[in-house]
Amino acid sequence: MTTAVYPGSFDPVTLGHVDIIRRAAKMFDRVIVAVGINMEKKPWFTAEERGELLRSATKDIQNVEVVEFEGLLVDFAKSVDATVILKGLRAVSDFEYEFQMALTNSKLAPEIETVFLTTSAVNMYLSSSIVKQVGILGGDISPFVPECVHDEIKSRIKQRSRLK
Ligand code: PNS
Repeated sequence: MTTAVYPGSFDPVTLGHVDIIRRAAKMFDRVIVAVGINMEKKPWFTAEERGELLRSATKDIQNVEVVEFEGLLVDFAKSVDATVILKGLRAVSDFEYEFQMALTNSKLAPEIETVFLTTSAVNMYLSSSIVKQVGILGGDISPFVPECVHDEIKSRIKQRSRLK
């Protein structure tokens, strides 16, 4: 049985993330979506909120679980018996950062392979930052996020813009 961990900030989940999760669920026996902390980013949504949004967005996919984690990704991966870290690649701009993380993780845990899935062409431009930017400026985020979590994401972004 092969378990893959798909880590990220997911702040918030986008259609691009769900596309990668759906495709990964066909490739691996178990996919664990790992909601982590990126020390270089200040999340808008709490880890619990990000996890809940992901759970709603993936509830129809049998072999997918969503787990919030702290600490090193490789330690989390080992704790759930994962042998694969799965990442999505959108464009060349993602490559340098992802390459650095993959090599670091492989140094820390050589038994865990990082596997990259290229994004579907339709999602190439899409990111959580785009969702937040369009949302806070009053634009329509429905083309970018799963329908079932659209209202929740929108109201959270609205709430955030009132605080500013
Ligand atoms: O969606 P992101 O922001 O690119 O996700 C980054 C994340 C959370 C996957 C990454 O920051 C991470 O793995 N954090 C855990 C800490 C860790 O293991 N760092 C060493 C890897 S370089």
